[in-house]
Amino acid sequence: MSEFLCIGHRGACGHEPENTLRSIRRALELGADGVEIDVRLVHGELLVIHDAKLGRTTNGQGYLVRKSLAALRALDAGRGERIPTLREVFETVDRRGFINIELKGRRTAQPTCALIQEFIQTHGWHYEHFLVSSFNRAELRAVTDPQIPIGLLLTRPTRLYSLSARRVRASAVHPAVRWVTARFVADAHRRGLRVFPYTANLPTEIARLRELGVDGVFTDFPERVTGGEERGM
Ligand code: G3P
Ligand code: MG
Repeated sequence: MSEFLCIGHRGACGHEPENTLRSIRRALELGADGVEIDVRLVHGELLVIHDAKLGRTTNGQGYLVRKSLAALRALDAGRGERIPTLREVFETVDRRGFINIELKGRRTAQPTCALIQEFIQTHGWHYEHFLVSSFNRAELRAVTDPQIPIGLLLTRPTRLYSLSARRVRASAVHPAVRWVTARFVADAHRRGLRVFPYTANLPTEIARLRELGVDGVFTDFPERVTGGEERGM
C-alpha cells in the first residue's frame, strides 16, 4: 500500500524559474502529485517568493518590503514570469494536485488560512488539497483551523522533534534528506507522522529514500520520481 508522493520543489525549479506559475505548471506536467511554494506577506498580499530580498530570483534588488506591490509585480522573476500571488498559484493548480505552502517570514498563517478556507468554501477544494509547513513553529501554531494539514520542517536531527510536531499538531515532518535514517522513518511512522524529506534530486538519493519507506520527497526534478517525460526546453 506504500504511496510515494512527488512534491515539486518551488514548482519544478530544476527546469523553470523557482516559485513561478510556469514552474508550477511544469511540475504538474511532469506528474508531480503536489507542488511546494514559499510564501511571504508583503504589504498585506501573500507573494510567492523564497527570499526576503529580490536579487537572487528577480531583476530587482534589495528587500521586498522596501518596494511597492506594483513595483514588485512589475519585476521579472525569470523567463518573463512575475512574482505570483498565492491566489494565482491556487488558480493555476486548480485542484490538479495538492499545494504545500511553506510559510516564510512572519504573519503569513492567518491570511493563508483565510485563503484556503475561501477556496474550500467557494471553489470546491478540500483540506487534502493543502499542506501548510514551516520551520517557524510560532507561524504553525498560528494556523488556527484544525483541519488544515500541517508539516513541520526540520533542519537537523533532534530527539525532541516529535514533541515539536505534536505542539504544532503536525501530521507530517519534512526533514533535510541528509540525515534521514531508517530509524528516524520508523520512529516517525510509529508516531503517526508522515515523512517528506527535502530536497532529493539525485536518482540514488531518491532510490535510497524509497527504500527507507518515506512517504514522498520534495524534488527540483519531478520526472526523476514520477518517470514523467522531460520535455526539451
Ligand atoms: O519545504 C521544503 C523546502 O523548500 C525547505 O527549504 O529553503 O527550499 O524553502 P527551502
Ligand atoms: Mg521551501
